[in-house]
Amino acid sequence: MTRMTVNNQAIEYRLPPDTPLLWALRDASNLTGTKYGCDTGECGACTVDVDGKAVRACRLSIAAAEGSFVTTIEGLSRERTHPVQLAFLAENVVQCGFCIPGIVMTAAALLKANPDPDEETIRRTITNLCRCGIYPRLVEAILRAARATRGDETIPAGARPDIDLEDAARVVPALRPPEPKRR
Ligand code: FES
Repeated sequence: MTRMTVNNQAIEYRLPPDTPLLWALRDASNLTGTKYGCDTGECGACTVDVDGKAVRACRLSIAAAEGSFVTTIEGLSRERTHPVQLAFLAENVVQCGFCIPGIVMTAAALLKANPDPDEETIRRTITNLCRCGIYPRLVEAILRAARATRGDETIPAGARPDIDLEDAARVVPALRPPEPKRR
């Protein structure tokens, strides 16, 4: 049995002690926001916060995490209003989304340790791999999240704050269906 605190809840895992934390979180706790990517510690898709540090959960056994405080993407912010989450929405960072929970957790740990990182620090810290190539927007978003963390900027909630969602799309009478093709 291995005990730890996951998203502010005390958990006892009844799994072999060498079980990677990733699988305890995903399979036993159903916290599937933590993703399975390379399984070699390279891609960062599985990143969670362990005692304030960004850790690749595929490479950490639950025995090694015994007694730790673990935060996953599900536990980062109940309302999903962590500055990194707001900045990622506002800057349209996300494409396919698979790598995003790991990147958000890495960025959140960075800003907790250093709320005023420069671009170089961000690039050096965020070693997570993204096959969509979001890197330029990613750096901008983390700089913005850092400003919000320091209280220098307020990031509005919502992916497109410049769009009035009440008025942006209207239901209209049915359009004429296309003519059937002749064979
Ligand atoms: Fe853990 Fe890639 S799945 S680093």
